[in-house]
Amino acid sequence: MTAKTLPGQPHIAYRGNELFIENVRLADLARQHGTPLFVYSKAAMLAALGAYQRGFAGRKAQICYAMKANSSLAILQLFARAGCGFDIVSGGELERVLAAGGDASKIIFSGVGKTRTEMRRALDAGIGCFNVESEAEIDVLNEVALAAGQRAPVSIRVNPNVDAKTHPYISTGLKGNKFGIAHERALTTYRHAAALPGLKVVGIDCHIGSQITQESPYLDAMDRVLDLVQAIEATGIPLHHIDFGGGLGIDYNGDTPPAADALWAKLLAKLDARGYGQRQLMIEPGRSLVGNAGVCLTEVLYLKPGEQKNFCIVDAAMNDLPRPAMYEAYHQIVPLTPRQGANTNWDIVGPVCESGDWLGRDRMLNVQTGDQLAVLSAGAYCMSMASNYNTRGRAAEILVDGIQSHLIREREYASDQMRGEKLI
Ligand code: LLP
Repeated sequence: MTAKTLPGQPHIAYRGNELFIENVRLADLARQHGTPLFVYSKAAMLAALGAYQRGFAGRKAQICYAMKANSSLAILQLFARAGCGFDIVSGGELERVLAAGGDASKIIFSGVGKTRTEMRRALDAGIGCFNVESEAEIDVLNEVALAAGQRAPVSIRVNPNVDAKTHPYISTGLKGNKFGIAHERALTTYRHAAALPGLKVVGIDCHIGSQITQESPYLDAMDRVLDLVQAIEATGIPLHHIDFGGGLGIDYNGDTPPAADALWAKLLAKLDARGYGQRQLMIEPGRSLVGNAGVCLTEVLYLKPGEQKNFCIVDAAMNDLPRPAMYEAYHQIVPLTPRQGANTNWDIVGPVCESGDWLGRDRMLNVQTGDQLAVLSAGAYCMSMASNYNTRGRAAEILVDGIQSHLIREREYASDQMRGEKLI
C-alpha cells in the first residue's frame, strides 16, 4: 500500500485512509488509551538528532538537548542514550535528567533566575557548566561555590543584539530582552568573573531566539560572538568552548527552516575561516529535535455550527496545547480517518472556559461527532507547557518505536492533582 506522508512529517503518513505514526495506526492508540493523547515517533527524534550529528561529524561538539521543549523522562532517556547532554533551566529539570540516567557532566544550566539552592544542587551533582546571565548572578554563584568548597564552571551568555526574526515572545537576543549580558559589557564581566576564586571560566554562549527559519541571524550572531572570543582571549582569559544555543525552527505550516546539517555546514565554514573550527562547540537545540516527532490526538465532542462561526469542539484544549492561545501559533490539524465529501470551515476549539481556547481557526474539514483528529507538530512545547487549568488532567503520552508503542506517561486524574492539597 502506498503511504502518503504529510508535509514536514516524514514519520507520519496515511496508509489507505488511515493515519499512521511509524508502523502504528493512530486510531488504535486513541481507542486503547483514550484522548487527548500525545504520541511521539522515536525514529523521528533520532532522525532529527542525526541531522545535527552529521553536521558535526569530525568536530568536537556536544549536543545538549534543551529539555524544556519536552521533558518527559523516556524522551530524556532516549537522548541520553544517543549521547546527548542537556540544557536545563531549573532544579526540577536537573532532577529529571538525573532520573532519566543523563550524564551530569554534560549538563549546562541556563536561565536568568537560578536560586542558591538550585546552584548548590547543580554543583553537588557535578554539572558541566553554568550559563550565567547577569553580573549579580555571577557574584551569587561565586559565593555558593566557595561555601561548597568548589569552583563553578561558568560560561557567560552574551546578548549579541541580533534580531532572530521570530515571534516577539520567543526572541531573546535583542537589547530589550531580559536574557544575557549586553555585548558591550561582556569583556568587563569576563574580567570580573575570571578574578573570582569560586569560578572557573570555561566558555561563552548565546541563544538568540526560537523557531528561527532563516540562517542569517545565526551567521550574524556567530560573527558577534567570535569578535568577543577574540577580545576576551586577548586579555588572557582562555575559552574552552563556544555554545551557540538552540533556536532552529521546524515546518509547522510550510515554514522552510534550513536543515540542521546544511545550517551547520555554513556556520562551520565561518568558524574555520576565522580559525575556531577545532574549538569545542556546544549547541542547545530543543524544538528541532522533537517538534515534528509528536502529534496530539483528540476526539470531536460536539459540532456547533453558527451564524458567524462553526465550532468543532474537541476534547483537547489550551491546557494541553497552549501554543495557539499564547502565540497564535499554527498547528496543522488532520483527521485520523478522512471522510469523503465536502469540507466545512471550522474553528477547532477546546472545552476550557476561555475564548482564547482554540487550537485552529478556519480549518476546512469534513468532520462528525466522534471523529478523531491529530494536531501535528505537537512534540515540542506542548506537553512541557501543559497545565491543569479547569482541573483538567494532563494527557497520557506514548512513544512509538516501529510496530511497538510504549506508554511513557499515564493520564493524570483529579486525585493526582489534589495530592498535597489540604482542607482546613
Ligand atoms: N537554549 C536556551 C537558553 C533557550 O532559552 C531555549 C528556548 C533553547 C535553548 C531551545 O530553543 P529551541 O531550539 O527549542 O528553539 N514556548 C515557546 C518556545 C520558547 C523557547 C524558550 N527557549 C514556543 O512554544 O514556541
